[in-house]
Amino acid sequence: MNILVTGGAGFIGSHTLIELYKAGHTAVVVDNLSNSNPVALQRVAEIIGIPEIPFYKVDIRDREGLEGVFAKHKLDACIHFAGLKAVGESVEKPWEYYENNIGGTLTLVDVMRRHGCKNIIFSSSATVYGDPVEIPITENCPKGQCTNPYGWTKSMLEQVLMDIQKADPEWNVVLLRYFNPVGAHQSGRIGENPNGIPNNLMPYITQVAVGKRKELGVFGNDYPTPDGTGVRDYIHVVDLANAHVCALQAIGRHCGIGIYNVGTGHGYSVLDMVKAFIRVNGVDVPYSIKPRRAGDIATCYCNPSKAKAELGWEAKYGIDDMVRDSWHWQSQNPDGYPEK
Ligand code: NAD
Ligand code: WQD
Repeated sequence: MNILVTGGAGFIGSHTLIELYKAGHTAVVVDNLSNSNPVALQRVAEIIGIPEIPFYKVDIRDREGLEGVFAKHKLDACIHFAGLKAVGESVEKPWEYYENNIGGTLTLVDVMRRHGCKNIIFSSSATVYGDPVEIPITENCPKGQCTNPYGWTKSMLEQVLMDIQKADPEWNVVLLRYFNPVGAHQSGRIGENPNGIPNNLMPYITQVAVGKRKELGVFGNDYPTPDGTGVRDYIHVVDLANAHVCALQAIGRHCGIGIYNVGTGHGYSVLDMVKAFIRVNGVDVPYSIKPRRAGDIATCYCNPSKAKAELGWEAKYGIDDMVRDSWHWQSQNPDGYPEK
């Protein structure tokens, strides 16, 4: 298939491009580069072994820009990564998050349907479960109250896309609820490249390890978990990328609506991650215990068996692979990608 990849220059999008080409697909990338660097796409093309990835610096809110892309390319499906994703920033700038994520997606799906492209895989998130009523979380677990506007954009967009599919059954909508993506491509050439102070655990750990930050703050050690620190379902980004390739098969089978958890099914604590990082990579990660972070929950991990049964997808990489590949990327690229 020829796939429109929105947000393809970003962390998960860039890794997904490689897996798409490996599986025999081709891609066209649309990204406004608001949180990414075109060097990532050059490196993706090098890894795949092609001269370049077709790329348009277009904002998904720009209807004319998107029309131009659809006029030039015959596109079979869209993998829709483009969006703003910083939880704390979304609390400060709710309008910007709703406008970018919801406004952008509404424009995108309208242009798609006008061009007869009615297949979409959407980057949703475990955040839609709120404080989950069951652990491990299955897809039958009810959605919950999100603690921030970012989370609500994911929850609302799931509803928007399901309603669109209901009204027009020609659509295939796959909602992938990612748990906690970490790691990097084994080449060490692409990886997570956050602007400023990282919000997420793994990039914070790698920046401490590489000497860019003094120590990791561990947000709370009094949760009802085995060691008191928060437990999450970390998933290697290459496994996550492959889930999208498998989801394309569901679209090929005309699945209608498909909702899948994308995690390993294993919960690791903050200290499990820190200790694995130190053990596998042989570098120190100084840390100290800090107060809990507002909005955090104690434990979040999934039951990923629906994705295995229906998509034939399951995670192959474990915690040692995740911490090794995160460090490989960071240690080879201490300042991330070179300036745009
Ligand atoms: P990322 O920021 O690295 O990638 C998102 C890309 O979208 C960036 O390249 C950015 O420039 C682009 N973008 C943003 N707004 C755009 C717009 N209006 N028009 C065009 N391009 C735009 O983030 P990521 O970690 O790769 O996440 C990809 C998707 O997965 C996002 O939708 C995110 O919300 C979702 N997600 C991420 C995580 C995570 O922890 N990384 C977890 C669950 C879901
Ligand atoms: C993981 C654990 C922290 C940083 C977020 C979003 C979620 C999804 C994935 C997009 C928690 C602890 C963290 C630090 C720490 N994104 N931590 N010190 O909060 O599970 O999920 O990213 O959809 O929506 O909320 O991930 O990596 O921020 O935190 O102790 O400096 O690490 O308290 O227990 P989280 P995270």
